[in-house]
Amino acid sequence: MIKVNFHPEVDKGKIEGILQEIAKDKMGGWLNLPKKVDMSEFMRIKEAAKKINEESEYLVCIGIGGSYLGHRALIEALRPESETKVIYAGNSLSKRELEFALNKVGDHDFSVNVISKSGTTLEPAIAFAAFKKKLIEKYGEEEAYRRIYATTDAKTGALHDEAVASGYTRFVVPDDIGGRYSVLTAVGLLPLAVAGVDIDNLLESASDAVVSVVEPAVKYAWMRYTFGKKGYDTEVFASFEPSTLYFNEWLKQLFGESEGKGRQGVFPASVIYSTDLHSLGQFMQDGRRNLWETIIDFPTDDLNSKVVQAVRVAHTQGGIPVLEIGVESFDEKGFGELIYFFELACAISAKLFGVNPFDQPGVEAYKNELKKLMGETTK
Ligand code: PA5
Repeated sequence: MIKVNFHPEVDKGKIEGILQEIAKDKMGGWLNLPKKVDMSEFMRIKEAAKKINEESEYLVCIGIGGSYLGHRALIEALRPESETKVIYAGNSLSKRELEFALNKVGDHDFSVNVISKSGTTLEPAIAFAAFKKKLIEKYGEEEAYRRIYATTDAKTGALHDEAVASGYTRFVVPDDIGGRYSVLTAVGLLPLAVAGVDIDNLLESASDAVVSVVEPAVKYAWMRYTFGKKGYDTEVFASFEPSTLYFNEWLKQLFGESEGKGRQGVFPASVIYSTDLHSLGQFMQDGRRNLWETIIDFPTDDLNSKVVQAVRVAHTQGGIPVLEIGVESFDEKGFGELIYFFELACAISAKLFGVNPFDQPGVEAYKNELKKLMGETTK
């Protein structure tokens, strides 16, 4: 159960209206997703994960933004045990990074999960071309194509078309779910299952959260909106578990891309304590007071929990508002709930700021400019 240490007076009528708008939105498919799992797709994901585990030492996950941050966050946090290691590519245009990933795979047996809803994003497309070439060189075309798993749109896009033509195993990013809300679809579930994360527990917990987190999510969204309107323009997510570094990255994408439009929103930043008490801690204690801190309080050991207490007191004395979100357990159950909590809170808070939580015109703008620079026609 998510617990929060703040209890604002919310405008219940306004929230009710927002919840109805989200439910009716054509991109609101994530809202009831954990309760409406497509069991045949779920079984296909598990079968594919089993096959990958049997025949590959590495699964190369190729994708960017919402197509990789969610599953990477959970795999890095939970550190599951699996013979097959998940590695990442296609989340930058750095040739150095791509070569590093190719060399890491080296002569080992591997499969590829290329993930792109649009199927046209440049970063994953370039990395996919490089890994496809490596697969073909190692296994020949037929076996190479058997080792490619494409997670993309059901009907359109370059990746969809190629996957159909070449017979890759396909998984679908549902039409009504955008990248940053997609971790509980095949986008996240296949890499998570391969890595050894218990996806049954994850989904069961997210399913319970559909009801159980509504109240705390509304309170949290209301606090964000209130702070934002009072001139606090930055929220700093603070975790005391170093392995949640990528969970912070997922959060920053979720809030940044959902809220940051129309000159609205709160800038999402993050720290890992106690590590960052020795760097950004100074600013948090005594710097410009334009920010608040949101502690994601995972159950932890005695010593670490003392640091949580110390930070709570010191930063409050330093004049920084400290919100706390208490998580029940550091496992699939805790994260299943937390993911749904933040998705719901983010959609509500973006709506409170008066922006569309589900589009990302700024991201599209850069994609289009880059394609122009590369001499390609844009869609
Ligand atoms: O949340 C989003 O919609 C974006 O961050 C996308 O996930 C990201 O731009 C990658 O897009 P695609 O999956 O189409 O390659």
